[in-house]
Amino acid sequence: MPKNYDLPGPKSQDILDLQDQYEPSCRARAAPVVWAEAHGATITDIDGNEYIDWTSGVLCANIGHSHPHWVKAVQEQVAKVTMPYAYPTEPRATCARRLVEAMPDHAKNLDTCFLLSTGSEATEAAMRIAKRVTGRHEVISFWGSFHGRTWGAMSMAGIRSTKNNWGPLMPGTIYAPYPYFYRCPFGSRTEQECADKCLEWLDHKMRYESIGDLAAVITEPYQGGAGFIIPPEGFLKRLQDWTHEQGALFIDDEIQSSFGRTGKMWYMEHDKLSPDFCCIGKGIANGIPTAALMGNHELFDALNPGEMSSTTGANPVSAAAANAVLDVFESENLLQNCNEVGGFMADEIMKLRNKYEVLGDVRHKGLVIGLEFVKSKATKEPAPDLTTEITMRMASKGVTCGKVGIFGNVIRVAPPLCITREQAEKSIKCLDEVLGEI
Ligand SMILES: Cc1ncc(COP(=O)(O)O)c(C=O)c1O
Repeated sequence: MPKNYDLPGPKSQDILDLQDQYEPSCRARAAPVVWAEAHGATITDIDGNEYIDWTSGVLCANIGHSHPHWVKAVQEQVAKVTMPYAYPTEPRATCARRLVEAMPDHAKNLDTCFLLSTGSEATEAAMRIAKRVTGRHEVISFWGSFHGRTWGAMSMAGIRSTKNNWGPLMPGTIYAPYPYFYRCPFGSRTEQECADKCLEWLDHKMRYESIGDLAAVITEPYQGGAGFIIPPEGFLKRLQDWTHEQGALFIDDEIQSSFGRTGKMWYMEHDKLSPDFCCIGKGIANGIPTAALMGNHELFDALNPGEMSSTTGANPVSAAAANAVLDVFESENLLQNCNEVGGFMADEIMKLRNKYEVLGDVRHKGLVIGLEFVKSKATKEPAPDLTTEITMRMASKGVTCGKVGIFGNVIRVAPPLCITREQAEKSIKCLDEVLGEI
């Protein structure tokens, strides 16, 4: 370090050409790094360049890329049976039991685990079951939220780019402001005031927009796609209580925020929540397509047998991968490392915020660190092009990072939870250098 890769390398360029020719441009794109291998928090590209990974492959590889225990479990299962569909298997039954048992004490109502393939399926299923159970049809979601890309899940998105030009959305979706303090729509002076205003606004929404038919409120505990927006402590609990006062169900979308990401196994532990549904995915199987909807058996009983299912959902390879992830959490101190290295990285990045005019805001919890870039701190005008430039320069110095945000101006620092202190130091040094250059 510092490196200065001339990206893309020649072999990478060949793959990028194939991508351009044969794949649609709608697929998400990042810096021109063609991954060949990834282990722990290190990626090697097809030209042999090495990178420290700040993406966890979009927040999936929480236990580290290609963890040996997980690799062995997946390989062994693939060699045995992969697709029994409606027939149960031992890994699937064990996985459901272990996930239910892993729910925290305050969420023991979540006694049933419905294994699926993608997060979108889980949020869509939660929303649909909530409608069936309550007999109502309205759903409140939040400005900035992201819950997936199937129609119902997409309709609940509070970011326009997720739903732009797709025609009419799901009837009965109501969008409410979320405590994005840095850009508080109410101009609040404190984080708490911003959260209070957002909660007050829910009553206005019910008074003017609802037809009195609220089935559910769905929220991400911290907003991922919007740019790592973390609400103040207590907000989620008050939101849950408000939801229950309306006779509606509270859906906690932890697809990105669970499996240790914020320093606790489940985000709901921070606020001692007891959601009616909890959607999990991403880190659940470290990258093998898997998700689950956790809920109470009485809620699932509202569905008839065979009414909700999918071809690959609950396949034994996914289940074996998820069981291996749980093993690793039991045997390694990933949560401790997440808190220690996450705390160190956040402190260092805070120093950079004071040093550089373009780093407007830094938000963090565990190994979720959002860096919001602006043209100037005074105007807070978003700087999306500059943010893209930073991700490119970071890659050429050997650090991969993703770009998100309502304005496309947030870099997310979300490395595998096993990232070492040394890797953290090196990667922050790269960031300092890049910010100095621009
Ligand atoms: C909070 C949240 N919900 C739902 C989803 C959708 O999950 P998937 O892409 O697996 O369908 C995502 C994915 O990024 C997410 O971050």
